[in-house]
Amino acid sequence: MFARLASGIARRALFTLDAETAHGLTIKALASGLAPSCAAASDPRLAVTVAGIDFPNPLGMAAGFDKNGEVPDALLGLGFGFTEVGTVTPLPQSGNPRPRVFRLVEDNGVVNRLGFNNEGHAALRGRLDARAGRGGIVGVNVGANKDATDRIADYVAGIETFADRATYFTVNISSPNTPGLRDLQARDALHELLSRVMDAREKAAARVGRTVPVFLKIAPDVEEAGLDDIASEVIAAELDGLIVSNTTLSRAGLSDAKGAAETGGLSGRPLFRRATIALARMRLRVGPRLPIIGVGGIDSGESAWTKITAGANLLQLYTGLVYEGPDLVGRILTHLANSLDRHALSGLDAASGRNAEAWARLDPDGEDTL
Ligand code: FNR
Repeated sequence: MFARLASGIARRALFTLDAETAHGLTIKALASGLAPSCAAASDPRLAVTVAGIDFPNPLGMAAGFDKNGEVPDALLGLGFGFTEVGTVTPLPQSGNPRPRVFRLVEDNGVVNRLGFNNEGHAALRGRLDARAGRGGIVGVNVGANKDATDRIADYVAGIETFADRATYFTVNISSPNTPGLRDLQARDALHELLSRVMDAREKAAARVGRTVPVFLKIAPDVEEAGLDDIASEVIAAELDGLIVSNTTLSRAGLSDAKGAAETGGLSGRPLFRRATIALARMRLRVGPRLPIIGVGGIDSGESAWTKITAGANLLQLYTGLVYEGPDLVGRILTHLANSLDRHALSGLDAASGRNAEAWARLDPDGEDTL
């Protein structure tokens, strides 16, 4: 109770600050151990094995929160079953001019146009080396520098640099804030990207003694034909899974006109519907076995459960934490365990994708519901 009150007060104070400044303070608090470490052991029925990795629970911290790998252990201490650092690019880069992160408070959303600001491979490598051997699932989300002449080579460099430190990799081609990056989702470019990335993964496996799973993170704004292409290429390349989705360029249904007018990717509650429809449509295309991490607008136990029934095997969130605070993690895990009881299921696998067909039929721009 006290922890909840204290985190409520802290959150109101953070909301008086510019969103990026508030984020910087949150990272400092986590790094210095000031943030609550309130994780109760999650219900063993929430454990899932995906791509050969045993996740203690299905809820992860999404990429972009801990771009430079400063606080993975503090995040795991909040109760997340895994965390994803990055997006990291080979060279450090400062991103777009500030301000570049905007809260849409009326909508429980965020618009960001950070543009892959990060400290680069070497800095992240140093931090991951410093925590080597501590355990915990830490994925590394790799990207390309804005000015790279061969963007695919930047992804390959990420695989080579972190193969002995990453529990899994995410290949992020869906940020809207690096001009042209989303073009890598087009079929020919994607084919070349995935074949070079998977080659690099195989070469690294011989060196580090482990084949690191690779996931592809896509946008929620891909049209039907584009989803077909991505599904075919992912299956042909034998990727380990998909992450659906990144932020959207859509501004449909927003109340906050000022925030809506900002350029960038929209996340949080207003993304939920679009991202969940994209997830369900992908699930129908790739079949029941390919792992999918569902992300976009999860901010309650109900929305987390819905994401699973729409087709997710694992979940991630970011913006929900901004609005709900750290005890959201425990609330979601409790709700998931209670949902298993309510539906008399022994594990999440049995719930995954139950409503995929119904979700896939919805119109991302409409208002119809299940
Ligand atoms: C992000 N996201 C993101 N994704 C990614 O792959 N690499 C990144 O560097 C970032 N950076 C980033 C910064 C900020 C400020 C936000 C809000 C988001 C996208 C994020 O991982 C996630 O896919 C979306 O935000 C949707 O989930 P939520 O926030 O609605 O739970």
